[in-house]
Amino acid sequence: MAKQTDTQEMIKEALSQLDFGPAALSSQAFAAPLLAWYDEHGRTLPWRKKWPELADPYDVFLSELMLQQTVVATVIPYFQRFKELWPSIDDLASCGEEALLKEWAGLGYYARARNLRKAALAVSVDYEGNFPQDETSLLALPGIGPYTAAAIQAFAFDRPAIVLDGNVERVMARFAGLITPLPDLKAQLRAIYPQLAPDHRHSDFAQAIMDLGARICISGKPRCDLCPLAQTCLFAHHKEAAYVPVKAKKQPKPKRQGMIFVATKGDYAVMVRRPEKGLLGGMMGFPTIGWGSAKEAASPSAFEAPFAANWQEIDTKVRHIFTHFELNLTVYHANLGADDLTDNEAGFQLVEPEEVGLASVFAKVWQAVTSIR
Ligand code: ADE
Repeated sequence: MAKQTDTQEMIKEALSQLDFGPAALSSQAFAAPLLAWYDEHGRTLPWRKKWPELADPYDVFLSELMLQQTVVATVIPYFQRFKELWPSIDDLASCGEEALLKEWAGLGYYARARNLRKAALAVSVDYEGNFPQDETSLLALPGIGPYTAAAIQAFAFDRPAIVLDGNVERVMARFAGLITPLPDLKAQLRAIYPQLAPDHRHSDFAQAIMDLGARICISGKPRCDLCPLAQTCLFAHHKEAAYVPVKAKKQPKPKRQGMIFVATKGDYAVMVRRPEKGLLGGMMGFPTIGWGSAKEAASPSAFEAPFAANWQEIDTKVRHIFTHFELNLTVYHANLGADDLTDNEAGFQLVEPEEVGLASVFAKVWQAVTSIR
């Protein structure tokens, strides 16, 4: 922790030494050169249209939900496959959940895929297949938060919504010389966004910033020599740009303890689909106890295996860092006997773990178990 604090102090000190004049907060200084750059260098993406055309709201919705988890290059083939299978929002609304989850495998949390289907159903039924355009109605759809609502409004309906993702935050904070740490920075960006935005081409504007952020104003050392905003950006050619946006001080994560049970039979292991709500919701996992909540973790329950078998604790402990806590798992292994698991009310399944798209924590556990077998 001391090392991190030292680095943060050093960054704060370096940034406080900078002596900037006023930022050029106008669309002439920001949007105009940016859009000219975008006309020449903007990426061609399968869900994207460039002004005066506008993207199909279904394409924006689908791509944005996929992009919440992973990068553009990974999403492209998934997006194309989904569009082949379910060309319209009504097609997606009537697809089977299992088929959808299967196609989603590799894109991360299945709760997102479930929300995708629920939102498609709501648009199909409540809005006759036409996406609503106003923020309140968009936010009421499952899985659509402020960022996605703004992206749909801007990209599909050319509305002047404030689209703030990580790329946009980085580009604008550097341009305007803002060194307030996240998340407080966001309020400042919301305030200046309309001043930097053009009065038309709202769709191109946000996507142009994203492309600039992905290609030129990258995290770490930006490529200012290629940047169309270098003349007015306050951080242009400053090595301190690498520290912006400033991250909030990291809080130490609370620790949880748990037990995990891996019963194997050849290449197969007993797994169970996790409840849809909660951590790793809807994903396949090995049976666990003791880490579902902070309360449970504070007093790990007595040894209570999910079903009777010849459980043996293995030597390796598995540590995994989630967003909100650090998990330390004691791993138990058993060879599944012929008489084990005869009464299976809990929905345990004998599966090949590698085939079900393991979440990282379970992949670590499986690795630990396979290395002792
Ligand atoms: N990341 C998220 N949405 C994007 C988009 N429409 N274009 C480029 N990058 C993105």
